[in-house]
Amino acid sequence: AGAGTGENSAYPSFSSRIAFIIVTAGSAVGLGNVWGFPYVAGQNGGGGFVLIYLLALALVAAPAFMAELMLGRMGKASPPTALGRLQAKVGSKLHWPLVGWTGLVGTILVLSFYAVIAGQAMDYMLEAAGGGFAGWSDADVQALDANFKSSMPMMALWSAIFMGLTALIVSFDINTGLEQAGKVMMPLLLLILLGMVIYSGNMGDFGKAVDFLFGFHEMEFTPRLFLEAMGQAFFTLGVGVGGIMTYGSYMGRDVNLPRATFWIVAMDVFVALAAGLAIFPLVFSSGVDAAAGPGLVFLTLPLIFADIPGGAVVAFAFFLLLTFAAVTSSISLLSPTVARLEEAGWSRRRGATVMAALVVGISLLTSYSFAGGKDVFPLAALGLGGMTFFDLIREGVSNFILPLSGLAYALMVGWALSREDVRQALPMADGPLFRAWHMVIRYVAPICITALFVGAVAG
Ligand code: PFF
Ligand code: NA
Repeated sequence: AGAGTGENSAYPSFSSRIAFIIVTAGSAVGLGNVWGFPYVAGQNGGGGFVLIYLLALALVAAPAFMAELMLGRMGKASPPTALGRLQAKVGSKLHWPLVGWTGLVGTILVLSFYAVIAGQAMDYMLEAAGGGFAGWSDADVQALDANFKSSMPMMALWSAIFMGLTALIVSFDINTGLEQAGKVMMPLLLLILLGMVIYSGNMGDFGKAVDFLFGFHEMEFTPRLFLEAMGQAFFTLGVGVGGIMTYGSYMGRDVNLPRATFWIVAMDVFVALAAGLAIFPLVFSSGVDAAAGPGLVFLTLPLIFADIPGGAVVAFAFFLLLTFAAVTSSISLLSPTVARLEEAGWSRRRGATVMAALVVGISLLTSYSFAGGKDVFPLAALGLGGMTFFDLIREGVSNFILPLSGLAYALMVGWALSREDVRQALPMADGPLFRAWHMVIRYVAPICITALFVGAVAG
């Protein structure tokens, strides 16, 4: 256990402010940046989507991120328990723990596809270790992706390995290994991504990539696009499932929340945009479809490794770091359920093992969607034709569970808790920054989220 907070010295806490920032940034930066952002931006036509995504981050997701951290630090327990305490504190009649429980379901659903995608990164790491990619053609790269996605046993095996690793780390107490590893791996990932942007820019069509991501082009701003942009903003910060609340519960009183939030969001945006700028130049030079979907990163970046001297080493390093980025996120997804099970008397090890096994079982729905179930659309009868199990799980979590929880947090923090309690819990001086954030949490975020939901349902 760390230094403790003075309120409850048996409760674990991060060993320093910087350890908190690194571990929480590790939760934010993950597959959502390198895999998710480019593919969702690609499917939604680029520029306009990116703009709305950045607006949703600034106006809704980042303020909600700060609120979730704060709720965790106030409640000092697993999400359902923490929210139950706060409900009791304000004497609300609504059932706050329900939001925590919904989040726990969300963590399991996110992990169920996260494990499959992380598994693909691990599989490519092995491919690189075997000297793969050197001199590969576009067709070779496409065949590798197709190959991986055609084999359910292979995807299941990798998911199990990934979840086993996640469970192992979560079994230990929070200060071991993780804090240390994060300090080295995070800067390395940023560095290698920057190198790839430069190389990809030379090799591919950088101008077209910049225009696609940031330029204005004729496009249809459908309600669905707005919802996807907001969903991606929530997903990339990991707001709304209680992972951040759990980390907030381990956060010392000395962490300056607005500053920490700023740096974590800035880092997250930086990694997502760098991934986009590494991937899209190759999209436009190789003939891969920008709307190719979840395979996009795996169809493009190996083209770099095929072309450069020492490509196998760079490829290995890249997929290793991507796997690491995924692990630092997956442990934050497994932590809330394990914390809840600990409250029920389970050991961390038992909780982590049982939950990881459950995730691997559910992950079969995602591997099935990539393989034999490519054209199986379970909710077609409800008007959701064209959506596989994977699509339904990913969009259901990102676009509904996360923003709905975000709405609940905003109402709790903006309306149920007193302004003064909130100000002291952050803590922030009663200046313009606090006033702006409190207005956003009270009005802007709830109105935006509600409007986008109403739009999506009506549209
Ligand atoms: N923020 C992570 C990513 O961008 O990959 C995903 C994530 C982590 C979602 C933690 C939810 C969470 F609690
Ligand atoms: Na992210």
